[in-house]
Amino acid sequence: MKQFLVQTQMGFMATRGLPLRLMRRSSFSSSSAAKWEGGVSMVQGASRGIGLEFVKQLLEKDEKGHVVATCRNPSGAAGLRDLKDKFAERLSILPLDVTVERTIEESAKSIREQYGSLNLLINASGILSIPDVLQPETTLSKVQKSSLLFAYEVNAVGPILVIKHMWPLLKTGGGSGTERDVAVVANLSARVGSIGDNRLGGWHSYRASKTALNQLTKSISVEFARKKDPIVCILLHPGTVDTDLSMPFQRNVPKDKLFTKEFSAQKLLQIINGVKSCDNGKFFAWDGQEIPW
Ligand SMILES: NC(=O)c1ccc[n+]([C@@H]2O[C@H](COP(=O)([O-])OP(=O)(O)OC[C@H]3O[C@@H](n4cnc5c(N)ncnc54)[C@H](OP(=O)(O)O)[C@@H]3O)[C@@H](O)[C@H]2O)c1
Repeated sequence: MKQFLVQTQMGFMATRGLPLRLMRRSSFSSSSAAKWEGGVSMVQGASRGIGLEFVKQLLEKDEKGHVVATCRNPSGAAGLRDLKDKFAERLSILPLDVTVERTIEESAKSIREQYGSLNLLINASGILSIPDVLQPETTLSKVQKSSLLFAYEVNAVGPILVIKHMWPLLKTGGGSGTERDVAVVANLSARVGSIGDNRLGGWHSYRASKTALNQLTKSISVEFARKKDPIVCILLHPGTVDTDLSMPFQRNVPKDKLFTKEFSAQKLLQIINGVKSCDNGKFFAWDGQEIPW
């Protein structure tokens, strides 16, 4: 943590005043990406659940890959600390809260100083329910302005700000030794964010926030394509996965429809590793099927 702060301050001194697009060309040559054989991946929202499992599998499956795991409270993230003990050289842990833009900027500076580039960004953070703060609404009469705005802030605004600040770092390469010819941004969405697929209604705040995440990600994918920036943005539905997020709602889920974190992350990494330029802006389920908007 101490080291991170020092690095951050140094990075600020080094890059202050340069416009983003200029920094893209001047500071991050392709040689910085080549330096990290196996590539550099970032998992945002990595303290637990599917995000933590992504970090674990990225480290285990690619013995040369480096991973930057971010979370709100690194000192409380026991799972990440265990991984750090095992993969000390290849795992960096940085503090990042998607609702505090300064922490996103500081993470970007720290990654720039340490690695110079990123080949993969996974936004895995998300909220569905928080006791006494946020409950998925079963009826319109329970909808509150504060819940709608809170879900939107964490589930839609946050991941987009993360992409904005990591954009200058995103370079081709990496990908479990496959040397992808595009950088990949994968945002964890949810099937319930699909308007076309909405047959049950309810969960207004969560649904709408994921729909917004989908639209924002699609717009970013169009901009990257227009600018011929070799970055592919995809949206992923992990299935119903046995994590803290789904725990209160698992009662009616058939056993064979409730996935383990291991299974879901493995399927999603298969999609990420096989991604092609023509996948830019698409919304995939865990099994590779496209989901209607
Ligand atoms: N599980 C499912 O069945 C399911 C289904 C569809 C979609 N998804 C999506 O998949 C993603 C991962 O879900 P999960 O099941 O792994 O959930 P989870 O176990 O509840 O983990 C959620 C993660 O989000 C982080 N987070 C929450 N607020 C944050 C903030 N302000 N800034 C940074 N990080 C924050 C949490 O960090 P803290 O530890 O600091 O709280 C935690 O690491 C989410 O986007 C979710 O919507 C999950």
